[in-house]
Amino acid sequence: MRFPPEFVDRVQEANNLVTIISQYTTLKHSGAGFMGRCPFPDHAEKTASFSVSESKQVYHCFGCKKSGNIFSFLRDYNGMSFPEAVEYLADKAGISLPVVDDPQKNEHYNELQDKKKQMLKLNKTTSNFFHETLKRVSLDHPVKAYIQKRKLNPETIEEFQIGYAPKEWEALSAHVNRQGFSAALAEEARLITPRKEGNGHFDFFRDRLMFPVISASGEVLAFGGRILEQGEPKYLNSPETPVFNKSKTLYGLAQTAKWIRSEDSAIIVEGYMDLVSLYQAGIKNTAAPMGTALTAEQAKLIKRMTNNVVCLFDSDNAGQQAAERSLPLLLAAGLYPKGLTLPDAKDPDEFVNKFGVEALKQKIDNCPELFNMVLQMWMRDYRGEASQKVKIMDQVRPVFDAIPDKRLKSLYAQELSHRMNVGLDWVRAALTAPLDKAAAGRGPNDYSTADQGQAVLKNSEIPARKPLISISGAPHAEILLLQLALKSRANFELAVGNSNQQILSQISHLGIKTVFEKAQQVYRQDDSKFDRLTSLLIEYVDAPELMFSNSSDLDEEKEKKMISDCVKRIQQSFLKDQAKKMGQGINKNDTEKLKEIEVLNRSRISLNKTDKKD
Ligand code: CTP
Ligand code: MN
Repeated sequence: MRFPPEFVDRVQEANNLVTIISQYTTLKHSGAGFMGRCPFPDHAEKTASFSVSESKQVYHCFGCKKSGNIFSFLRDYNGMSFPEAVEYLADKAGISLPVVDDPQKNEHYNELQDKKKQMLKLNKTTSNFFHETLKRVSLDHPVKAYIQKRKLNPETIEEFQIGYAPKEWEALSAHVNRQGFSAALAEEARLITPRKEGNGHFDFFRDRLMFPVISASGEVLAFGGRILEQGEPKYLNSPETPVFNKSKTLYGLAQTAKWIRSEDSAIIVEGYMDLVSLYQAGIKNTAAPMGTALTAEQAKLIKRMTNNVVCLFDSDNAGQQAAERSLPLLLAAGLYPKGLTLPDAKDPDEFVNKFGVEALKQKIDNCPELFNMVLQMWMRDYRGEASQKVKIMDQVRPVFDAIPDKRLKSLYAQELSHRMNVGLDWVRAALTAPLDKAAAGRGPNDYSTADQGQAVLKNSEIPARKPLISISGAPHAEILLLQLALKSRANFELAVGNSNQQILSQISHLGIKTVFEKAQQVYRQDDSKFDRLTSLLIEYVDAPELMFSNSSDLDEEKEKKMISDCVKRIQQSFLKDQAKKMGQGINKNDTEKLKEIEVLNRSRISLNKTDKKD
């Protein structure tokens, strides 16, 4: 659903960034705001250099320079999309989501929202039950032996809320009943199953090691349960429910999204154990589909956090198929995929246990682009025959059709021309020739009709990033003026208010100028919005950290002085520039122009005199 802007405003105003961030780091009052240790994992700092302004609802780390507002925090720290963040914050503030106009739909919609909430509560209760059960079982219980065999340590079990579903037929049924949940709800959440004979229910998960699937905002969406011994199925997963859409969910994000963000790369593994095991070994920027091939929606989910993906595949046939399937999907989402098949081990978990995490890290750092990896597979039996060349072109064609970036396409075409020793023109022609209908739609690479509902992403569906205003590279004085102007209303007036209107035309950097213009627009419309200016502007600029000044405790007088210094310096550069421009286009006899230049230069010199520092 698309939220009306007024609703988003209301939700944002009803929440406090300080409260949200306090969930992840301890904030203490300091000066005009709060300070604490930076919660972002890549920073891992010991001293407090992370500041949060309650009045402005923005954060800024003086150490690692991350900054943003409540939405960017939830995105960067928890991997939430904008609508998810709005829903999460609305729920936190007790604001109900906007109702749909159609009264019939409306009733249904509200009912469904209600049910989803209940179901999430039930899932949470269930997850706690499994987790507590695991903590309470005796030392000689088989699940303990299994955990030891898989080398899961207590911190990991805590972090991922791993649990144990008891062997009894009605342990969970009885528990949720005692907690006041209806059997109908538990049945719809697919936690219990009605008995075929008589009435009553039995538990869906029994005698399994339980992995709750937790969303970015901490909701328990579903479960995966691993059998302890040999047996089928090895993993039992929650079927789809009103709160669980398998193709739109990745396992692990609640714990890993912040690492994916800070490492600017996501490592995709196949499932629960691989993810948990890599996390425990120190590779934390991971995500996993659950027992299905990667979908277009999951690729989009990754794209929100990073452009860089490394797929780890098992070294069997299924692994190869997964690589072939993932390639066009990931490319279509605008990602840069790399691929890695691990030698001498069945999967990443086994690899790390056998060869250590450093060996894996090294492999990840050096792995090839997924395109090359897949091409290599397709060319395994290649002997340079003409028919092979044609077949390979048929195989790569859908991959090319999925790539939105023309530059990447052209480089991959060169790669093909090189590897098959054919002219680039031939490759290009083969990639654009009308498709042979008989050849198309055959073979394992026909991902466009693949099962599991993985539709091919059309270019138009690729989420376009908002074009950002670039403020990096602006002259120091202009950046400083922006920083100072955003600090207080008085500063803003002084810097770009009515008495200093001409400054906007004298600022040389287009980005800074645009930001000031936007700020003035907002401020003029409603000067009570001043406090929200920074938080609004953060969404528009490419380098938000530049909007925060490094000196937080200047007194008013000093700030005033600095503002007028900045203004002067900006004027000087402006005049100097004007004079230079004029000088370029005139000859010595043009006395009019020469006079103008002299006037310009004089005003510059007089400015200079009042400003000794320059
Ligand atoms: N999977 C599943 N259902 C199965 C088998 C597998 O959902 N019956 C999913 C799980 O998410 C699993 C992933 O596919 O993590 C990979 O399967 P597999 O390689 O068999 O499992 P491993 O993770 O290696 O499991 P383990 O190490 O516990 O044997
Ligand atoms: Mn395994």
